[in-house]
Parts: sequence; C-alpha cells; structure tokens
Amino acid sequence: MGSVRWAFRCGDWTPTRAEWLRAARCVQREEKDRVGQFVFAKDAKSAMAGRLLLRRVVCHRIGIPWSEIRLKRSPRGKPYLELPEASAHLSRFAAEAGRWSFNLSHQGDCAVLAAERGLQVGVDVMKVAMPGSSSVSEFFRIMTRQFTEYEWRVIQSSGSERQQLAAFYRHWALKESFIKAIGTGLGFNLQRVEFHLTPEPITEGQVQRGTKMQLDEEEESDWVFEESLLDADHHVAVALGPQIKPVDGPRAPPLAPAASFKLLSFSELISLATPLTEEDPAYWESFQRKAEAPQRQSSTHTQ
Ligand SMILES: CC(C)(COP(=O)(O)OP(=O)(O)OC[C@H]1O[C@@H](n2cnc3c(N)ncnc32)[C@H](O)[C@@H]1OP(=O)(O)O)[C@@H](O)C(=O)NCCC(=O)NCCS
Repeated sequence: MGSVRWAFRCGDWTPTRAEWLRAARCVQREEKDRVGQFVFAKDAKSAMAGRLLLRRVVCHRIGIPWSEIRLKRSPRGKPYLELPEASAHLSRFAAEAGRWSFNLSHQGDCAVLAAERGLQVGVDVMKVAMPGSSSVSEFFRIMTRQFTEYEWRVIQSSGSERQQLAAFYRHWALKESFIKAIGTGLGFNLQRVEFHLTPEPITEGQVQRGTKMQLDEEEESDWVFEESLLDADHHVAVALGPQIKPVDGPRAPPLAPAASFKLLSFSELISLATPLTEEDPAYWESFQRKAEAPQRQSSTHTQ
C-alpha cells in the first residue's frame, strides 16, 4: 500500500518519566535539543511526537533500521530523508526511499503524519477554536489577506460564528497542506490559491476528495485534496500532487482509495524505535518544570 495516515493525540499524552526519556533517546540529538528548548510542554510533546511519527514511517514502510535513519530539513524547514545511497549496506533502500514523500503537522491536541508513495504530500491539522483575545470579526479582519474574496464569502456565509470558524480553519488547513506539499513555507502569496469546497459534508470517519484548487485562477486538476475530521474540532487536509521527478515510469500510479487517519497509542508510536543516545535524566527534570501551555491557550475553548 502506498499511503500512510497516522495521528497521535499529544493533548491526551501525559508522559511518564520512562516514556519521555525513552522518546528523547530515540530521536536525533539535534531534534532532542530542539524539543527540549520549547517553553511549554504542549509544544515539546507535539514536536517530539512529530519526530517519532516520521521515523516510524521510514522504518515501517521503507524498511530502514531506526538507528540508520537520517532526517534532514530543507532550507525552508521541510523534513526529508537523507537517501542512503552513500552507505553500501543501506543502498538497497535508496530506490524505495526515493519514491516516498511525507509531511507532518501538529496543532491543537493532535500531531498527524501523511506519507505517500509516488506523489508529493503536504498535511495540515487545525483545531477549531475561538480566537484567544479578539472577537471573531476582528480575528477575520486581521486575517483578511490570507484568503480570496470568494473564500471570505464562503466562510462568512456559513452560519453561526462557530460554523464560520470551522469554515475558516477548513480553508486554512487546505491552503497550508498545499504550501507544505510544495515546501515553500512562509513567503508564498496565499491569494494565488483559491479553494472551491466540495458540497459534500465532512463527517467524522469519512474522507472527502471533492474540493478543488485554483492556482492563479486555473483549476489544478493534478492536485487532490483529502479532507477529514479527527474529531469534532480537528480538521485535517492532505494535499497530493504530482511527483516532481516521476519515479514509476512516465505515468503516476492511480490514487489508492482514500484512507482515514489511524490513531496511534504511545506504545505503537515507539514500538519500532531503538535508542540513538544515552539516557539523560536532566531532560526529564527540565520537561517536568514546563507549564502545559500559556494561560490564554489553556483557557481558550470551543463553543
Ligand atoms: C512552517 C510552515 C510550513 C507550517 O507551519 P505551521 O502550520 O505553523 O505548523 P504545522 O504544525 O502544520 O507544521 C509544522 C511541521 O511542518 C514541517 N515543515 C516545516 N517547514 C516546512 C516547509 N517549508 N514545508 C513543509 N513542511 C514543513 C515540519 O515537520 C514542522 O514540524 P517540526 O518542525 O516539528 O518537524 C509554514 O507553512 C508556515 O509558517 N505557514 C504559515 C503561513 C500562513 O500564514 N498560513 C496561513 C494559511 S491561510
């Protein structure tokens, strides 16, 4: 199978000392250091879960042993797998590694990973939440430039404030999924892409592929967007685009049936992991001192 969709509920994860130290041993040293620098536990947990999701998919689907996986970042921050061509005993994985692309997102209470064989992939998860310190209309005003006039009409005509926020975050996840698939990050003019939503409702347990994207006013029929809900509040969009360098011959492989996100437990997340570094008790002590989230975020709730 050529698709992986995994989710981990970081918001529900209260790591034990053993879990946190084990997780820290199983990610690359520079990523362990990066995770350790987050001020809030919420951010540290979601970044840690993201690293474990990435390593797990490489190990599980490409077959590279955990301890041999080397993840790097593009100049704009997108994680990628260093192809194991250089190393003689790993060169047998190189062809398969070159066929896969993957991406992750963490927001709200969830971290998600999407991986696809033979297509570019980008993923974004957004929790529908009331804006922390302003009214919905003020929040939308600040965000005006992120969406086109057509998109704002759709968002603002979708009903109650809660429904408008849901439509807003749905569009946001779609835009981000595309930006993340192409890897540009900040700096892309978001007005260039416009989404036309499928009329089908998005319901939990189902994946919709009917939403279309226009880029510079032209419909991009090569791109497919998968939309789903992890729960009532978490919208996920997965962007699937043509591979930059065709790897399976001149034609892209047909799309596999859309798969729902599978929720992993911490035991599943770590089940293939092997330690890369020594145990570091001070890492736990530092984690324990972190507050879960900024006061404003902890008290922000959906209606
Ligand atoms: C960094 C960015 C890629 C996504 O940031 P984000 O939405 O805050 O965060 P997400 O949780 O969805 O994704 C973060 C993950 O994306 C991955 N990522 C980072 N840079 C990336 C890039 N250039 N391309 C693709 N993926 C990237 C990383 O794995 C990162 O997690 P990690 O650092 O823990 O490994 C970037 O697109 C951004 O900052 N966008 C905001 C632009 C904007 O204004 N969007 C409005 C949309 S309407």
